[in-house]
Amino acid sequence: IKKMAVLTSGGDSPGMNAAIRSVVRACAFHNIECIGIYRGYEGMIDGDFISMDARSVKGIINKGGTILKSARSQEFRTKEGRIKAHNQLKKAGIDAFVVIGGDGSFTGAMVFNQEFGFPVMGIPGTIDNDIYGTTHTLGYDTALNTVVEVIDKIRDTASSHNRLFFIEVMGRDVGHIALNAGVGAGAEEILIPEEDLGLDRLLDSLRRSKQSGKSSSIVVVAEGDKIGKSVFELKDYVEENMSEYEVRVSVLGHMQRGGSPSCFDRVLASRMGVKAVESLLEGKSNYMVGLKNDVMDLTPFDQAVKGKSKINMELLRVSDIMTT
Ligand code: F6P
Repeated sequence: IKKMAVLTSGGDSPGMNAAIRSVVRACAFHNIECIGIYRGYEGMIDGDFISMDARSVKGIINKGGTILKSARSQEFRTKEGRIKAHNQLKKAGIDAFVVIGGDGSFTGAMVFNQEFGFPVMGIPGTIDNDIYGTTHTLGYDTALNTVVEVIDKIRDTASSHNRLFFIEVMGRDVGHIALNAGVGAGAEEILIPEEDLGLDRLLDSLRRSKQSGKSSSIVVVAEGDKIGKSVFELKDYVEENMSEYEVRVSVLGHMQRGGSPSCFDRVLASRMGVKAVESLLEGKSNYMVGLKNDVMDLTPFDQAVKGKSKINMELLRVSDIMTT
């Protein structure tokens, strides 16, 4: 391998820039040429490439978003799109690529590898932490810190007015952000897709909370929660059934994806970039790098994509005990 490319794909996450920096500098360290691909697989199809050296990634380790931009490419899902992308890579003399993204991005890389035998490596970048084969995805820790900081602020106003707040957080189909940020911010209830609390139990719990003399209540709701009601419908439901509560709703939205990455995410990104580049140089391909027991590890793409990232059940129990 003489020339490697790096791209960011799918929803951006804090730490992607730190990972780009790491890939570029690891290439420079090993005397490999490095090419940045703009706009994910869209840019690969269009040949939107830029030559990168160690200095082109200065001052980005602390920046949110991705300097290479990101996209969710529909065309790359088609065989024609992938043939165009392959031709562009060949034309530019690129021998391998590292994709920083989530499961959709890895599925794309896996299919590409099967079709063209092209060496590929993945770095998990998503705030959702929904990828099997790593305890942490890039951006997850930062998003947790952002959410906890915001809930602390909401708690100030909630207690001043003795109000109940439903706070919706991201996470797509999983409850990692909701559960961890909920425990970290001392939420009274946490609604996640992995566990159906049920509306009756929610009302019971809120009644108990009120009776125990609490001045505010925070319920964190994962966007993928299966309780069957949106946060706005939950507000109406609780107000109809419990006159003792004045309820407000806050949907945190895309602010959870922005901001300067935490130290944890910066360090993780730096480790993952080096591992990805060096694994390709060792002749490995079709893997995602991940963190397991504080060691860098490789998981085959098909397992990373199909496997389930599991919620920590112990944390659910801790959450119940904390709301006593
Ligand atoms: O996967 C990251 C994520 O932020 C999810 O938590 C959320 O469901 C989704 O992306 C939002 O996607 P978009 O930015 O396309 O609205």
